[in-house]
Amino acid sequence: MDSEQWDRRYAGSELVWTAQPNRFLVSEVSDLQPGRALDLACGEGRNTVWLAEQGWRARGVDFSSVAIEKARELAAAREVEADWEVADLSAYRPPAGAFDLVVVFYLQVPAAQRTPILAAAAAAVADGGTLLVVAHDLTNLDNGYGGPQDPTVLYRAEDVIADLADSGLMIERGERVERPVATDTGERVALDALVRARRG
Ligand SMILES: C[S@@+](CC[C@H](N)C(=O)[O-])C[C@H]1O[C@@H](n2cnc3c(N)ncnc32)[C@H](O)[C@@H]1O
Repeated sequence: MDSEQWDRRYAGSELVWTAQPNRFLVSEVSDLQPGRALDLACGEGRNTVWLAEQGWRARGVDFSSVAIEKARELAAAREVEADWEVADLSAYRPPAGAFDLVVVFYLQVPAAQRTPILAAAAAAVADGGTLLVVAHDLTNLDNGYGGPQDPTVLYRAEDVIADLADSGLMIERGERVERPVATDTGERVALDALVRARRG
């Protein structure tokens, strides 16, 4: 999907996603000392805003200007400051070594796009900093709930680890994780890929 398609999806006052942070962001980041954080493909800003609430100096980047406007509104409603930027990650190169935390949540793009984006994300991690990538796992297609149904935009932790091979980051955690989802017909389980990596 290009930015115009995402803009159309985000049109309307309702949030497409939730205002609550992703459960894996909370579990993986809560033990880190707040510093400078970069949320790539931030969407409507739920994770950026939560980071700001935890004391991070947070910046959210997405190529949907509609999503970024909703993110600004979410931050204002929650009375926190964050920086927002409309940019296409295929061309966006964040400053190297500038962030203590870089997160990429549910960026479902084909491998040819994903690999350079994750390389740029990794390069933005400062010494001692953390990169956290969470995505719909490839196996979610057959064995999990929801998510994109196009296998070319799904991936596994192993794929992310391969993308980071030359990044200089140390892989701290790389695995498939289960995410319970409440539905009208009861709880279902979505399968996500999670990679947490650290520089130094
Ligand atoms: C499934 S949403 C996830 C949003 C957010 N990370 C979250 O977890 O709530 C995927 C986001 O990726 C953004 N996106 C996809 N391709 C992009 C690109 N090339 N550059 C910037 N943003 C992109 C979309 O606009 C969308 O907001």
